[in-house]
Formats: sequence, structure tokens, C-alpha cells
Amino acid sequence: MKPSILVTRHVYPEAIAILEAAGDVHYNDSSDGLSAQALRAAAAGKRAIVCQLTDRIDAALMDSAGDLAVIANVAVGFDNIDVPAATERGIVVTNTPGVLTDTTADLAFALILASARRIAEADRFLRAGRWHQWEIDLLCGHDIHGHTLGILGLGRIGQGMARRASGFDMRVVYHDMQRARPDQEREWGIEYVDIEYVDKETLFRESDFLSIHVPLTEQTRHLVGAAELERMKPTAVLVNTSRGPVVDEKALADALENGRIASAGLDVFEAEPEVESRLLALENVVLVPHIGSASIKTRTRMCTMAAENAVAVLSGRRPENPVNSEVLGED
Ligand code: GLV
Repeated sequence: MKPSILVTRHVYPEAIAILEAAGDVHYNDSSDGLSAQALRAAAAGKRAIVCQLTDRIDAALMDSAGDLAVIANVAVGFDNIDVPAATERGIVVTNTPGVLTDTTADLAFALILASARRIAEADRFLRAGRWHQWEIDLLCGHDIHGHTLGILGLGRIGQGMARRASGFDMRVVYHDMQRARPDQEREWGIEYVDIEYVDKETLFRESDFLSIHVPLTEQTRHLVGAAELERMKPTAVLVNTSRGPVVDEKALADALENGRIASAGLDVFEAEPEVESRLLALENVVLVPHIGSASIKTRTRMCTMAAENAVAVLSGRRPENPVNSEVLGED
């Protein structure tokens, strides 16, 4: 009998083709997803679940599946899944790292440019019919080139930011739980940029642009709050493309309202799709709806990668991207 596979939400069709070749696919072809209760009902009897970051995959859901072998998340982040509960039950969890690195770094850099050069604000200004003449001080922002980029979290996407910064003649400082090896720092710093490891406090103090690239864990929840924002330069720009709860959104709204920092670019929010109402009212913040990896090519590849991961486990093979490799007997 073919294994039963649940796809919780709309995905690119290439992924469905891969899954259909390997199993019996139950596809909720809708972007709205299912309620917690409907998701539990849909999971019953499934060997694989292909899900997205908007699906909460908890222990109760795993138990209602019965004989679940794999949860394949179409995302690099997997804070929506109770991984310890999956590990306890021998269920493999997979994610989609690597394929979205450059697409997400592109968006983070776009937010740096848009925030510093007031691009969204300028677009609103022009469309509102407020542009009457060229003026010496019209919509002046801050330069990016020659300034310091701070990277909080030097994983794949953080490294992508360092590479991009070299094209803008920036100094790069970073903080991570673990310092990179000198040869890695040299490689990621590439030609014109010195990449320098600093403590967290120095990172906040010295960055003109601070870009966040850490996963959401209990240790990183509200990693950037009032105290950290207080340390930043009044001209600084904060960019978050990681997960919303890494930043205390209310503290950030305070800092932007009070001019404690100059501006922010946000792709992620604490309670998506809700956005702190004070942020919506501010001109000095660029807000986009969690589109970090949203290029057609990357999103298609994320879908096929998740499908391949699920099929690998169902066929008794090692998936490319296990999150809890101890379930595979590897750790
Ligand atoms: C997107 O946020 C992802 O984690 O892939």
C-alpha cells in the first residue's frame, strides 16, 4: 500500500508531482491552511506531513497521525514544530536550508537600502501628489556605503549579508554564539571587507545597520529589547528578516517613535499577520509581509526540497536536510 501524505497548504505543483510518485497525497490546496482541529483530523493515518511555518505541529498532532515517519517543513526555520516531541516519537523533521540563503539576504539588503534611503516613504509621498519641485533637503536619508553593518547571527544568511556588504564598501562586525574560524572570517569577509567578531554589546553600539539572522529559540526570544535598542546609535537602522519574536516589537515601536534609532526594516512580526499598530503609523519603518524567501525560483525549490525530504524518509533513505538527525541514528 502506498504511504499516505498530507500537504497542509498550497505549494508549487512541482512538489505535488514528486509526492504523487511516492504516495497517496491528500492536498489541502488552499493558502488558508486548516484549523488546529481540522489539521489533527487530516493528519490521521498519514506517514508524512509536508507543512509550512504557519502550521503549528505539536505533540497532539503527531499522536493523532498515529504512525507518522516524517514532518517536512517548507522553510528553513522550524520553530513551528515541537522538534523534541518529534524526536521522542522517532519522527524525522526536515527543513529547507541553503536554497533560500541568497534570496533572503537580498531582501534583508533591500530593507537596509529602503530604510536608509526612505524609498517606501518617498513612493508614498510621490503617489500622494505631494511632489512639487526638486528641493535640496527633500527626503534625505543616510548613506550605506562606508558605514558599519552589524550581523547578529553568522549562519548562511548572515554570511550572505557579509558578502553583499563588500560591494558597498562597508565594515562588517558580527556576533554569534560561536566565533567563526579565522579562515572562514577571511573567506566571508572577501576582498575588501574586514569581518570582525565583537561581543553583543559592541555590536549594538557600533552598527550603523544591524541585521538579525538568528533562529527563534527560547534563548533568542526578545534578544533585541529596550536595553539593546538603548545602546544603538540614534542614526542606526535595524533590519529583521529572521523571526518576529526575536525583537520586542513594542520596545522597537518606542525606539522609533522617540527617535532612539533612526529607522527599521521589518519582514517578520511577533504575531503574524498582526502588526503592532504603532509601527503602522510610523514613516520611519519599512514593513513587508514575511517575503524574505519569496522569489518564484526559491519558493519552488523550497517546495520540491521538502517533497524530496519526505519521499526520502518514506523510501527508507536519508533525507538531505534532517533537523533531528539523532532519529536517523546519526548522533
Ligand atoms: C522563512 O521564514 C523560512 O524560515 O524559510
